[in-house]
Amino acid sequence: MSTPLSNGEIVVGLDVGTTKVCAVVGEVAEDGITILGVGSVPCRGLRKGIVSNIDWTVRSIKDAIESAQTMAGVEIRTVYAGVAGSHIRSQVSDGVAAIAGGEVTRADVERVLEGARAIPVDADRQILHVLPREYLVDTQDGIRDPIGMSGVRLGVKVNLVTAATTCVQNVIRCAERCNLAVADVVLEPLASAESVLSDDEKEIGAAVIDIGGGTTDILLYVDGGIAHTSVIPVGGNNITNDIAAGLRTPMAEADRLKRLSGCALGRMVADDEEIEVPGVGGHPPRRCPRRVLSDIIEPRVEEIFAVVRKRIEDTGLIEQLSAGAILTGGAVLLEGMAEFAEEILGMPVRIGHPVGVRGLTQLIAGPQYATGVGLVKYGAQIMSEAQAREAAPPAQSMIRVQSSASGKIPKDAAVMTLPRAEKSKLWEWIKQAF
Ligand SMILES: Nc1ncnc2c1ncn2[C@@H]1O[C@H](COP(=O)(O)OP(=O)(O)OP(=O)(O)O)[C@@H](O)[C@H]1O
Ligand SMILES: [Mg+2]
Repeated sequence: MSTPLSNGEIVVGLDVGTTKVCAVVGEVAEDGITILGVGSVPCRGLRKGIVSNIDWTVRSIKDAIESAQTMAGVEIRTVYAGVAGSHIRSQVSDGVAAIAGGEVTRADVERVLEGARAIPVDADRQILHVLPREYLVDTQDGIRDPIGMSGVRLGVKVNLVTAATTCVQNVIRCAERCNLAVADVVLEPLASAESVLSDDEKEIGAAVIDIGGGTTDILLYVDGGIAHTSVIPVGGNNITNDIAAGLRTPMAEADRLKRLSGCALGRMVADDEEIEVPGVGGHPPRRCPRRVLSDIIEPRVEEIFAVVRKRIEDTGLIEQLSAGAILTGGAVLLEGMAEFAEEILGMPVRIGHPVGVRGLTQLIAGPQYATGVGLVKYGAQIMSEAQAREAAPPAQSMIRVQSSASGKIPKDAAVMTLPRAEKSKLWEWIKQAF
């Protein structure tokens, strides 16, 4: 961990994005997370969410860490790093395990999750997350937290998120070249969702759509669990490119025009509004209707939301997203995004800002900080789970055994303690029997 100056544990989120690297320093205490420092610097080392130039990325990470460090007054040694890009895939898997001791323990849950991740994965890919959708105890399904429940068989349905190993390794390598240890690599939309969604929204079903510079990330929560995640390689930079080409203006000016005067919906722009467009190659600036700018932006935004809608439709879960869509990421700062998204997605839409932290909140209030803040929240959660594991009593050594050869466990089945080797044989047997 990084060295804190105060009592709490320090957790640092490192969002290595297509347009910026952002380091967020949080102090985690029992009563919540306090943001102590933020460092955000432009980065040109990534393409569509994937590291394409190590040196440029390393330079940006160093700068971002340095300014976050100075602001927070801590030395940063360990980070939770984000990863995105269209190499990310998610697939459904399940697992089953006998409940040792008749009551579900943390160890049972870990074992059943271990089983769910035991599926063949391509040699060049790695499992990033095993996200439980629901647990099943005997015949009862739809369970969120099975610990403490009675039964003989524990099942789980999960979403397995996999990533191209080289893409993950490149993020880790960049961090290591800045003398940072990576505590965990986290799927960026997972982090964003952590910082912008309320528990109620997770419960009744919601889509988080993070539109950054190079990628648009989708994450669906259904019944309190993550049901789908995917990454589309299109984002705000595509809008900027369209403006630069359409108005024949340099990229930097196109980005500036987009931020200051852009609008996603042409009909929201009055006919008499005008903008000044700087020329390229020594050409003088010229004035043109603001409507011309929105006419360039609108088709690209429409395309992005149409692809998002198709992805969501393909999951078959659209009817279960009662809380609608929560838009986050820098590109949603464009005027008219929420209104346009509502029309195309056909569901209620709101803009998601990072919430649930205190301290320097004014510095991380924008949707472009959702991932960085979410990484801190994710890291804090991992730490508290690790503490709970340490505090938990050792795994039960008792195991229910079958006292007849009928293949059914009788109601009065004996509870007895078995040596480890016997237990594992019995374990295999129970797995087959169920
Ligand atoms: N006020 C604004 N209006 C419109 N667009 C904006 C505004 N501010 C930022 N953007 C756009 O948001 C995008 C950057 O968003 P963000 O910082 O979330 O991306 P990133 O995390 O670097 O990239 P990614 O997540 O795709 O890897 C850029 O395309 C930028 O032009
Ligand atoms: Mg991002």
